[in-house]
Amino acid sequence: MDTLRSMSKSMKIEGNPFGSSHQRNQIFLRFVAFFLLIGLAYRFIITDSTVSPVPDVRTSPGSPPADPSGLTAVAQAPASADSPGNLTNASHNASTKCDIFTGNWVADPTGPVYTNVSCRHIQEHQNCLKNGRPDANYLLWRWKPRDCDLPRFDPELFLDRMSNKWLAFVGDSISRNHVQSLICILSQVEEVEEMYHDKEYRSKIWRFPSHNFTLSVIWSPFLLKAETFENTEGVSFSDIQLHLDELDHQWTDQYINFDYVVISGGKWFLKTSIFHENNTITGCHYCQGKNNLTELGYQYSYRKALRLVLNFVAQPNRKAQVLFRTTTPDHFENGEWNSGGFCNRTMPFNESQGEMKSEDESMRSIELEEFRKIQKGSNSDIGLLDTTSMSLLRPDGHPGPYRYPNPFAGLKNKDEHNQNQNQIQVQNDCLHWCLPGPIDSWNDLMVEVMLNREVYR
Ligand SMILES: *[C@@H]1O[C@H](CO)[C@@H](O)[C@H](O)[C@H]1NC(C)=O
Ligand SMILES: *[C@@H]1O[C@H](CO)[C@@H](O)[C@H](O)[C@H]1NC(C)=O
Ligand SMILES: *[C@@H]1O[C@H](CO)[C@@H](O)[C@H](O)[C@H]1NC(C)=O
Ligand SMILES: *[C@@H]1O[C@H](CO)[C@@H](O)[C@H](O)[C@H]1NC(C)=O
Ligand SMILES: *[C@@H]1O[C@H](CO)[C@@H](O)[C@H](O)[C@H]1NC(C)=O
Ligand SMILES: *[C@@H]1O[C@H](CO)[C@@H](O)[C@H](O)[C@H]1NC(C)=O
Ligand SMILES: *[C@@H]1O[C@H](CO)[C@@H](O)[C@H](O)[C@H]1NC(C)=O
Ligand SMILES: *[C@@H]1O[C@H](CO)[C@@H](O)[C@H](O)[C@H]1NC(C)=O
Ligand SMILES: *[C@@H]1O[C@H](CO)[C@@H](O)[C@H](O)[C@H]1NC(C)=O
Repeated sequence: MDTLRSMSKSMKIEGNPFGSSHQRNQIFLRFVAFFLLIGLAYRFIITDSTVSPVPDVRTSPGSPPADPSGLTAVAQAPASADSPGNLTNASHNASTKCDIFTGNWVADPTGPVYTNVSCRHIQEHQNCLKNGRPDANYLLWRWKPRDCDLPRFDPELFLDRMSNKWLAFVGDSISRNHVQSLICILSQVEEVEEMYHDKEYRSKIWRFPSHNFTLSVIWSPFLLKAETFENTEGVSFSDIQLHLDELDHQWTDQYINFDYVVISGGKWFLKTSIFHENNTITGCHYCQGKNNLTELGYQYSYRKALRLVLNFVAQPNRKAQVLFRTTTPDHFENGEWNSGGFCNRTMPFNESQGEMKSEDESMRSIELEEFRKIQKGSNSDIGLLDTTSMSLLRPDGHPGPYRYPNPFAGLKNKDEHNQNQNQIQVQNDCLHWCLPGPIDSWNDLMVEVMLNREVYR
């Protein structure tokens, strides 16, 4: 952990957090770079120690854990305005006209189906229970679409329906966050076997043996062919070269295997990048004049990328059912990730409180426009997994400082030495989601759209 801390410290100094606090693009660049850095540091830790990246668990399979998280003791059911409906009794008929993406979070004292103990697939940085996040009310909500009830994810049923199938998630670290949530839910019914991981543990394949259900996550943050340049510490030393007319073979080469694909773009498009089209450089995003190139903006590259992706998956010979997941809002308040921004709320927003940041707004409109275009123009099996607004209402669902155990240990000493600096001491993550946490509900929506698709078309 000391490595992480000193790395994040040098990152802050190098990043000059005071100079450009209004430049959210730049900030995101750093934020993303920071997580990449952390990811690399994590990799060093795991490769150096030849220890499995999956932390040891002391549960004996078969015997249910006796609430080791202390959830029941800590958590109180939030005051409920809406009495919870019948979770298990989905009226699918009502769903015909129901927009499951619009709604509210309502109190659900049942809590999550897994904990840090019953699921051993939670990455340390999202393991808020293990890392000592003190409040637990964020675990006691369920998503309630405005006009209908959403059935709760049934892992048995899901695994049965997915027998002999292959589901792949393609995207960035949020996709990894999502797939870990899915695995945690499913592993309560059947433990998963890891079949493959790449060197960086960013792309993986798992299998649920008794159902012959295969699950992949493919690291492809741009979905496009892209060259990124990082030194061994994960710090970028040259601009990203982004090929706006070529998809990333990491996922397209395997595409023929998949029966279901959940694909998403996102924050990486906010990084400085040079655009290539037709073998020439056509422009860039956030180039700050240094390359004498035309600033075309991330909106340009994001739209081009999505168009290419959607055209690829919509080709008539494709067998895979595709869900396109919309962008994820972050919840940094009073600053950004590197300038003291934090997310210490302990309650969801109600429908009128959430406010989207302009980048998220802009990315989502591009997503919806391109999705509608492809939906009109083809008979393909592409659905929308519009998790943006439900996620926007959960400022309480992020790790914040609880990215590792005891984040505040030793802080008091540092404070005494740095009293005049308003520089932050502890890194907050207000982008990824705690596991268990609100992202678990993405799977409820995913299953509905995937397996009851005809209802929502
Ligand atoms: C929930 O289900 C129970 C029986 O299973 C029923 O008595 C009750 O009326 C239902 N509530 C709603 C809101 O549908
Ligand atoms: C589910 O809903 C149907 C129709 O609303 C109702 O007839 C049935 O009793 C419900 N089942 C349960 C278990 O609540
Ligand atoms: C739902 O619709 C189907 C056919 O459209 C019908 O057979 C079924 O009875 C309906 N179920 C309920 C609970 O209304
Ligand atoms: C799970 O979290 C609790 C705190 O909520 C902690 O005491 C326990 O050690 C954790 N166990 C594992 C295996 O992470
Ligand atoms: C297992 O599933 C894969 C597809 O994911 C399929 O190709 C293969 O035939 C299945 N194996 C068996 C034994 O059914
Ligand atoms: C690239 O080439 C295609 C076809 O040759 C053309 O339609 C397109 O406008 C070109 N794009 C750029 C940015 O020059
Ligand atoms: C930058 O662009 C300007 C205007 O297009 C041009 O006059 C200048 O020569 C370019 N500089 C370089 C270094 O390419
Ligand atoms: C969040 O932190 C701010 C600033 O430290 C504090 O004023 C506020 O009360 C905190 N909110 C909660 C819910 O802890
Ligand atoms: C949402 O919450 C705010 C602040 O707590 C409150 O003022 C507002 O009335 C709430 N709106 C609804 C629709 O509940």
